[in-house]
Amino acid sequence: MSVTEVFNKYEPKKENLLLILHDIQDSIGSRSIDETTLKKVAEYLDMSLSQVYGVVSFYTMYSTKPRGKYIIRICQSPTCHLMGSKSLLEHLKETLKIDVNETTSDKMFTLETSSCLGVCSEAPAMMINDTVYGNLTEEKVNSVLEKLRSNHENN
Ligand code: FES
Repeated sequence: MSVTEVFNKYEPKKENLLLILHDIQDSIGSRSIDETTLKKVAEYLDMSLSQVYGVVSFYTMYSTKPRGKYIIRICQSPTCHLMGSKSLLEHLKETLKIDVNETTSDKMFTLETSSCLGVCSEAPAMMINDTVYGNLTEEKVNSVLEKLRSNHENN
């Protein structure tokens, strides 16, 4: 979906800002919103660029930095922490050879941390794009990553 198509979907009302940003970010391969696009959004909603930028920097789900096809958010809130999410984060860093807030060189994965994903009974948990994975072990993380890699290769 292009930026114009997203604008056609929503009325130019400030309350549509989050939905517009979400749709734009999801339809752009880099899963981020650059400054030129932020300016277009600001114009469309009759807001200042700094107001729009303020919203984008407040919510961690938005980024102005290009990110990978799959954004991995591993929960670091207390329950997941107690259930081993810290060592899973280390495992992900080692496996993907990146640090938190970095993207793999093939642009497949971006690693981020998150606060509670709302599935504490399945801790430790992570979310990749819009899918939540719970009861994680290193093996389960590996198999999820493998599946995503093979889906990517077959598409
Ligand atoms: S603490 Fe991790 S999902 Fe709630």
